[in-house]
Amino acid sequence: KMGVESVKRERESNEGTIPAEFIRSENEQPGIATVHGKVLEVPTIDFSDPDEEKLIVQITEASSNWGMYQIVNHDIPSEVISKLQAVGKEFFELPQEEKEAYAKPPDSGSIEGYGTKLFKEISEGGITKKGWVDNLFNKIWPPSVINYQFWPKNPPSYREANKEYAKHMHKVVEKLFRLLSLGLGLEGQELRKAAGGDNLEYLLKINYYPPCPRPDLALGVVAHTDMSTVTILVPNDVQGLQACKDGRWYDVKYIPNALVIHIGDQMEIMSNGKYKSVLHRTTVNKDKTRISWPVFLEPPADHVVGPHPRFVNPVNPPKYKTKKYGDYVYCKINKHPQ
Ligand code: SIN
Ligand code: FE2
Repeated sequence: KMGVESVKRERESNEGTIPAEFIRSENEQPGIATVHGKVLEVPTIDFSDPDEEKLIVQITEASSNWGMYQIVNHDIPSEVISKLQAVGKEFFELPQEEKEAYAKPPDSGSIEGYGTKLFKEISEGGITKKGWVDNLFNKIWPPSVINYQFWPKNPPSYREANKEYAKHMHKVVEKLFRLLSLGLGLEGQELRKAAGGDNLEYLLKINYYPPCPRPDLALGVVAHTDMSTVTILVPNDVQGLQACKDGRWYDVKYIPNALVIHIGDQMEIMSNGKYKSVLHRTTVNKDKTRISWPVFLEPPADHVVGPHPRFVNPVNPPKYKTKKYGDYVYCKINKHPQ
């Protein structure tokens, strides 16, 4: 079996210390580089508000000035979310060998499967830095892109729970894209269409962050902006998400039952810079396992994304290149200049 790293196993064999490859440089270490004693209250938006004009203003403001916000009263039943969380947790608690049956094949070119790393991380003095996290990627929508090879068979209800969650997300996705479009003066359908329309893909990632003896030194997921159009995330109840605001790192306030929204790079590009993708990262916890379930709303790989023609004219030139989403992902992962 190809060795997919298990941070869990790593932890069990090294009580009290962590291997050097998990120790971040000082300018990244949460113990030093976090504003302590203050949580960041990103905007909270009540999706059940019948006043659409008000919602448009809130969404537009939050997407332009924050790139991160939380949606409450979103109408996804809490049982559906609890079920999603229960099956994901059960999968990660399986023996390592069972999880590795779903390992992302090396050099497969596909992101799906179980693994520990996405980005090639910077090698400092010959040490490759690692995030304190395991993950699993599954495309959960549309049906034509689902590949059950990478969907756990154990627990047996994994499929059903994930499909049910995808089904309930559609209304949120449509409403969010509609509000984002209207906020830019476009027709309600425009941004969703520009992002691939009915072919827009929902890529679910599960991040599993086991307890870490030195949460002051390590990171879960390192600082990044999401490549997606928009990311919709549910965490378990353990704090760990941080956002960068005015150059400083803050813990983001945890709001039970909220959907955490991240504006991703493709939304920034389509809006020609009006909406901003948000720089964020995650910390880990000394005693508790943190788990999160982001869903990346992504254009198909061969779908071309660029600044929407409505925002480009002689006075406002395009701020971003137009390219296939798959090429964007390839360039960013390999850190080629974009
Ligand atoms: C991520 O940005 O990939 C993870 C976010 C989280 O775990 O909250
Ligand atoms: Fe992210």
